[in-house]
Amino acid sequence: MEQLKGLILSGGKGTRLQPITFTSAKQLVPVANRPVLFYGIDAMASAGIKEIGIIIAPETGDEIREMVGSGEQFGVNVTFIEQDQPAGLAHAVLTAEEFLGTDPFVMYLGDNLLQGGISDLVEAFRSSSPDALILLTPVSDPENYGVAELDGDRVISLQEKPPEPKTNLALVGVYMFTAGIHDAARAIEPSARGELEITDAIQYLVDEGKRVEPHVVQGWWKDTGRLEDMLEANRLVLDTVERRLDGELIDSTCEGRVIVEAGAILERSTVRGPAVIGAGARLIDAYVGPYSAIGERCVVERAEVENSILLEGSSVTDLNARVESSLLGRDVTIARSDGQPSAYRFLVGDRSDIGVV
Ligand code: DAU
Repeated sequence: MEQLKGLILSGGKGTRLQPITFTSAKQLVPVANRPVLFYGIDAMASAGIKEIGIIIAPETGDEIREMVGSGEQFGVNVTFIEQDQPAGLAHAVLTAEEFLGTDPFVMYLGDNLLQGGISDLVEAFRSSSPDALILLTPVSDPENYGVAELDGDRVISLQEKPPEPKTNLALVGVYMFTAGIHDAARAIEPSARGELEITDAIQYLVDEGKRVEPHVVQGWWKDTGRLEDMLEANRLVLDTVERRLDGELIDSTCEGRVIVEAGAILERSTVRGPAVIGAGARLIDAYVGPYSAIGERCVVERAEVENSILLEGSSVTDLNARVESSLLGRDVTIARSDGQPSAYRFLVGDRSDIGVV
């Protein structure tokens, strides 16, 4: 087989994670203190893929270029490919045509997380040489995904976010294609939401009598497009971390699987794992509970945080109630305001979501 390339889609708009995504790409929102996108690059690197193209949007592309760099930190070569507008996943494939050439490739949606990586799937693709290989998993809300209908081991139909899904088998955001997908992407029309859907391009392959092999995912899979999914992805990844305390603990305890990065300082605080405390963070008279990811340079002082993600530079100080199931962006400050009048005081961006007690 020719060289297998990688294509990661990291463009798009990220409307469901606003306001975080007003200033940053959704693929860079961290899960266990690492950008979601990095897990996809890791998965490709472990499967032996060396040449990876990353689709970026004009608005958020620079930030992604800066974080990923040449790919050297992952042991791969990265080529950035700008897609001028988020015109759909099949449009992204066409945008990458020059990079892909006639080589087969793995396409990975940059906001997806797949437990167990993709090495086995790449192996299956290599050994049975189908025209395309798709991954499926049963979900409780198939209307939010591409949905497949199978007849035994054969794909019969694929529909993008059907209001009345025929099955509960969702398309997972990892696909393997041969070069025939380019013609399929050229042959289809934009969908009702105005996008060239990869689901329709795969349906085209099926209609043309090409072999599309379905694989049901064994481990967990997450599309991190929404807050609840983000928090769940964070829980799933934190469940796999090993205890490592490189920071400084002063009269503090860390119970269970906790990572404290070098340069973090804990004073009179308790961290109950699984949790990760980023470099340069400070916990003072604080409690950080299970499934929390505290980003670099964050401060938690006389406050409690649990099942939450704090992006770098944020602080939570002097709160009466615990912060729970929350996602704080970068450099966010939440503090008690003393003095009169006794009132809540907010400086909050568009589309923020705040629950008070
Ligand atoms: O997560 C799995 C689902 O992903 C599948 O079940 C669906 O069949 C598939 O269409 C896709 O649905 P989404 O609506 O979740 O896709 P989203 O718009 O979130 O885009 C997925 C990734 O691709 C995301 O990282 C942004 C990127 N993207 C998206 C578009 C539309 C691009 O790079 N360019 C684009 O034009």
